[in-house]
Order: sequence, then C-alpha cells, then structure tokens
Amino acid sequence: MTRLASARPWSLGVALPLLFAAALHQGFATVAPPTTAQTTAAPHKGPERPERGQYHVSGSNGTVCLLAYMGLQLNITVNLGSQNKSVQDVMNINPNLTKSSGSCEPDRAVLQLNTDSDRTNLSFVFVLNTTSNKYHLGEVSVTAAVPDMTEPFSARNVSLDYLHGNLGHSYMCRQEQRLAVTSGFSVNAFQMQVQPFGVVENQFGAAEECQLDEDDMLIPIIVGGALAGLVLVVLLAYLIGRKRSHAGYQTI
Ligand SMILES: *[C@@H]1O[C@H](CO)[C@@H](O)[C@H](O)[C@H]1NC(C)=O
Ligand SMILES: *[C@@H]1O[C@H](CO)[C@@H](O)[C@H](O)[C@H]1NC(C)=O
Ligand SMILES: *[C@@H]1O[C@H](CO)[C@@H](O)[C@H](O)[C@H]1NC(C)=O
Ligand SMILES: *[C@@H]1O[C@H](CO)[C@@H](O)[C@H](O)[C@H]1NC(C)=O
Ligand SMILES: *[C@@H]1O[C@H](CO)[C@@H](O)[C@H](O)[C@H]1NC(C)=O
Ligand SMILES: *[C@@H]1O[C@H](CO)[C@@H](O)[C@H](O)[C@H]1NC(C)=O
Ligand SMILES: *[C@@H]1O[C@H](CO)[C@@H](O)[C@H](O)[C@H]1NC(C)=O
Repeated sequence: MTRLASARPWSLGVALPLLFAAALHQGFATVAPPTTAQTTAAPHKGPERPERGQYHVSGSNGTVCLLAYMGLQLNITVNLGSQNKSVQDVMNINPNLTKSSGSCEPDRAVLQLNTDSDRTNLSFVFVLNTTSNKYHLGEVSVTAAVPDMTEPFSARNVSLDYLHGNLGHSYMCRQEQRLAVTSGFSVNAFQMQVQPFGVVENQFGAAEECQLDEDDMLIPIIVGGALAGLVLVVLLAYLIGRKRSHAGYQTI
C-alpha cells in the first residue's frame, strides 16, 4: 500500500517537468527566427505572406552602409471620386524582381526599391539624431502601377516616426507591422531586421526587438514561470511526503 501511494507523486513529479519542458519549447518555437520560407506561418488574411528580401545599400566608398531584411506588402486604397468607387490593391513585393539602391549620409539614409520592371518604386528614408544617437524611419514614398487605374498611384509622408533604434544597433520585428503612411496607403512589413546607420563589415549590430515581439514573448514566459512554480511545489510535496513516510516506517 505505502509503495503504491509513494509511486504516484513520483510519476507526477516526472510528468510535470516534461509538460513544462514541452510548453517552454512550444513557447520558444513560436518566436524562433524562421530560417527558410514561411511555410509554417499562421494563416494570413488577404494575399500570401510576402517573401523576405535581403536589401543592401552601399556608400560612396563601396562598403555596405544600410541593411534591410524584410518581407513587404503594399496596401493601396484609391477613392475614385468621379466614378464613386474605391479600388483596393494589396500587393506583395517579390524580392527576386526587386533592385535596391540608395544613399547614406551621416544623418540620413535612403533605401530605394525598384520592383517589377519599375512598375513599383518604394523609398524609405531613415534619419539619425546625431545628438541622441537614435534613428527612426521618417519618410516613405511610393509610386505604383495599380490595375484599373490609368495613372500610377503615388503617396508620400515626410513626417513619420517608426522603427526606433539606437546607433550601432539593428531594429528587429518578427511580427507583422502595419506602417500607415497616408490614409490610402500602408506598408505591411514582415520579419523585419533593418540597420540604416553604423553597419560594420556588412553585419547587423545587436538587435533591438520591437514591442510587438516582446508582448508575444510575455505569454510563454508567464506560463513557463507558473508551470515551474507548480513543479517546485509538487516536488517539495513529494520530498516532504517521502521523508514523512520514511519516518513512519522507523517508528513502526
Ligand atoms: C566608408 O564610409 C563610411 C561612412 O559613410 C565609414 O564609416 C567607413 O569607415 C568607410 N569605410 C572605409 C573602408 O573607408
Ligand atoms: C488594407 O487597408 C485597409 C484600409 O486601411 C484595411 O481595412 C485592410 O485591413 C488592409 N489590409 C491589409 C491586408 O493590410
Ligand atoms: C455614390 O455612392 C453612395 C453610397 O454608396 C450613394 O448614396 C450615391 O448615390 C452614389 N453617387 C453616385 C453619383 O453614384
Ligand atoms: C524567388 O527565387 C527563389 C529561388 O530561385 C524561388 O525559390 C522563389 O520561389 C522565388 N520567389 C518568387 C516569389 O517568385
Ligand atoms: C520608377 O523609377 C524608375 C527609375 O527611377 C522610373 O523610370 C519609373 O518610371 C518609376 N516608376 C513609376 C511607377 O513611377
Ligand atoms: C535630438 O535629440 C535631442 C535629445 O534627445 C533633442 O533635444 C533634439 O530635439 C533632437 N533633434 C531633433 C532634430 O529631433
Ligand atoms: C503622415 O504621418 C503622420 C504620422 O503618422 C500623420 O499624422 C499624418 O496625417 C500623415 N500625413 C499624411 C499626408 O497622411
């Protein structure tokens, strides 16, 4: 009888750490950087997730000064007032058909993407505050051929304030970010890592993770912590129980 009773907490003590390990593993698996194409990505509304491109800009001396790895999707809404209808177009940027260029100045870096035989041109302007050594995305502009429209669509906003980072570090966001540019145009960015300033030897500096990713990481950490606590309690209970039953044998 006593054997059977003590066997039960033991199996629980093994099962719980296993459960805990599995939960932790799952938690980290969801935030681990996908190495290949996003075949395991969560179902996504609208078109497919865009493929991740690796874009570089070289400075006047030929060394790489800006790095941007990201999947891009453009969301264009045009109100055709005269025809009383609006046209919506969500298009992915295909990195295979995209050429990157740009320029780097001490406090201003430009990434220019020309895609699909110049039917879509997109540019990102990053600015560096040389006092605080912090950078951000300050300007986005686009011109794109849109089906059903005779003129190319164009939009520009020079007072944006996205993608904050510190000089020498890269900005990273695994989650999808929807960067609103104008009322009719936004850029959806996926699996982004960018560094517009202070790139050394063609490599990203230490990554600064976006808030979206940190929020996503919080849940597995809380669940993991709670499970770890539970395991500890069960183990303690088991150890105390075993001590007591041993003591019981001796007194009998
Ligand atoms: C190239 O220019 C950048 C600034 O634009 C500078 O930081 C870097 O040291 C230069 N590299 C070489 C090899 O001169
Ligand atoms: C595109 O923009 C419209 C209007 O802002 C929004 O309702 C829609 O959810 C967006 N779609 C995607 C895929 O970003
Ligand atoms: C435009 O659309 C609105 C609502 O969809 C409708 O009330 C209005 O009559 C339309 N105007 C014209 C000129 O078709
Ligand atoms: C881009 O090229 C790669 C390798 O050639 C290919 O696997 C991939 O499917 C292409 N992507 C698109 C969107 O065409
Ligand atoms: C994109 O840029 C190229 C070269 O800068 C230009 O020839 C082309 O007309 C532009 N495309 C659009 C849609 O503005
Ligand atoms: C740069 O940063 C400093 C210190 O945070 C701030 O006082 C200043 O207004 C910033 N300059 C610009 C152009 O934003
Ligand atoms: C540009 O972006 C700012 C900040 O997001 C926004 O307040 C402003 O309305 C935008 N300008 C235009 C022309 O859409």
